[in-house]
Amino acid sequence: MSYSFENMSPQEIYAKLANTTSIDYFIRKYNIPDYETALGIIEMCNLNGFELETYMKDDIMYIAKPKMTRLNVTPPSLDDPTVTNLKIMVIADTHYGNKGQQWHLVREAYLDAQEWGADVIFHLGDLHDGLYPDRKETPRQQIFRGFDQQVLFTRLAHPRVERLYKRTDPLKITSPAIRNLKLSDKYIPTIAILGSHDETSYKNGMATADVWLTETRGEDMTFIGQDSGIVTINGVKFLLDHPGGGKAKAVSYSIQKRMEEADNTDIAAVLTGHYHTIWFGISPKGTYGFCVGSMCDRTQFQNKKILKNDVGYLKLDLWTKDGKIIAQTPEMVYYDQNDMWDESRGVGKQKCLKLMRDDGVDMKKMRDICGYY
Ligand SMILES: [Fe+2]
Ligand SMILES: [Fe+2]
Repeated sequence: MSYSFENMSPQEIYAKLANTTSIDYFIRKYNIPDYETALGIIEMCNLNGFELETYMKDDIMYIAKPKMTRLNVTPPSLDDPTVTNLKIMVIADTHYGNKGQQWHLVREAYLDAQEWGADVIFHLGDLHDGLYPDRKETPRQQIFRGFDQQVLFTRLAHPRVERLYKRTDPLKITSPAIRNLKLSDKYIPTIAILGSHDETSYKNGMATADVWLTETRGEDMTFIGQDSGIVTINGVKFLLDHPGGGKAKAVSYSIQKRMEEADNTDIAAVLTGHYHTIWFGISPKGTYGFCVGSMCDRTQFQNKKILKNDVGYLKLDLWTKDGKIIAQTPEMVYYDQNDMWDESRGVGKQKCLKLMRDDGVDMKKMRDICGYY
């Protein structure tokens, strides 16, 4: 999705800009005509108190937010051959099928991951919206109903981005769920678990999204569990988690319990979806806990229950040694209500369809099976 810088305040430009973004990406994203205008916008942000800095790396100009932790951490030297750098983008709760789905933001996150050079993407579940037969209002909240439409939409339209950068040191990735987990060379692979909404398809009809998506998109999507899964990258063990049920008043409570459990294992970080809330913490024993936001708008269900819905994704830049995280600069990218497209009123749908066409999505299938055109 691209924005027009002309209609945006310095605050909006700052909020939507991820830390360490290349100036070329900045220009594309905000439809800026040239470099000089881009530098002028950066200056305008600074004059208005939204600090941005530029720096050069490999002949490319980057924009950074000096207030964010990234610049305060000196990355460990990679001259030590036992130190590796890992870039992981983490998303959750896409809820494809729900009117609140924000496909264009997922697409934007994937393009950011591509530009950033993510090694791998984690999806923490609730990929599709599923069906709760006891929630009678559900059909009216969905643009795609039932397993076929929702999972086919995911199969056709969930973004897929090619790797722009090749690693010199190949990653070693294993998971108890899949031996010899092979990652795509061509695409940035998505390692996913299923969540509570995905589970409804299983409960109601023994339909599992992981089976169908692995069969049809095996090249770039791998599933390692329902509700939770473990994946080890270069010896660093991550728990991907999608708890069920409602949340306590403080979301940190539930994640803390998971982190306490992980403290007694060799899990280095717990990554949690489901709560649609952004939170980050570290246990006294050193286990990291991240709760990521959703990639969908607040649903009617959340609205009724006065549940918070943070929208955004997490970029984890990690340095590892001997199976431990020795330094990290997590960055949360937030979206706000201005970024949402309301599918129920058709606002933004035409733009989404155009982007899908540009991406080469099979629009005939989209029309015939998903009824989306
Ligand atoms: Fe969810
Ligand atoms: Fe969930």
